[in-house]
Amino acid sequence: MSISLSPCRRAVLGSAVAAGATLALAACGDGSSAAPNNNPGPVPEPSGAGVKVAAVADLAIGGTLSVTAEAKNYLLYREDEKTVLAYTAVCTHAGCQVQGEEKDFACPCHGSRFDFTDGHATGGPARDALARFAAAIVGKDVVLYV
Ligand code: FES
Repeated sequence: MSISLSPCRRAVLGSAVAAGATLALAACGDGSSAAPNNNPGPVPEPSGAGVKVAAVADLAIGGTLSVTAEAKNYLLYREDEKTVLAYTAVCTHAGCQVQGEEKDFACPCHGSRFDFTDGHATGGPARDALARFAAAIVGKDVVLYV
């Protein structure tokens, strides 16, 4: 019988055997899920009334903003004059709050990074994309549909 282990699991197994320790296949520090989903899919269609979360004037083209709606944190990225993209601010690795930086979204806890344009994970231990939400510019406001 052959058992296939990831490189991380092999390292843990080898260390445990060498030390005579009880084997504990803990998360190898990457917290990766068994079934990664780094395909963000399309932007969801807006539904419901939406929540005004920011003034358009506070979100420059190419800029990001952290906002709150219904007691949850979200990230906005203004792609162009008419387009705002929205994501959960909850890191898909271990739940820390992701923030906007100069070139991407970044998690301060373990260094995961996420693409502005669709939320897919580009680095660090996170293997899943940030969940997407619909957002729109309505008059002078940014409206988020959560
Ligand atoms: S919680 Fe670990 S990288 Fe975000």
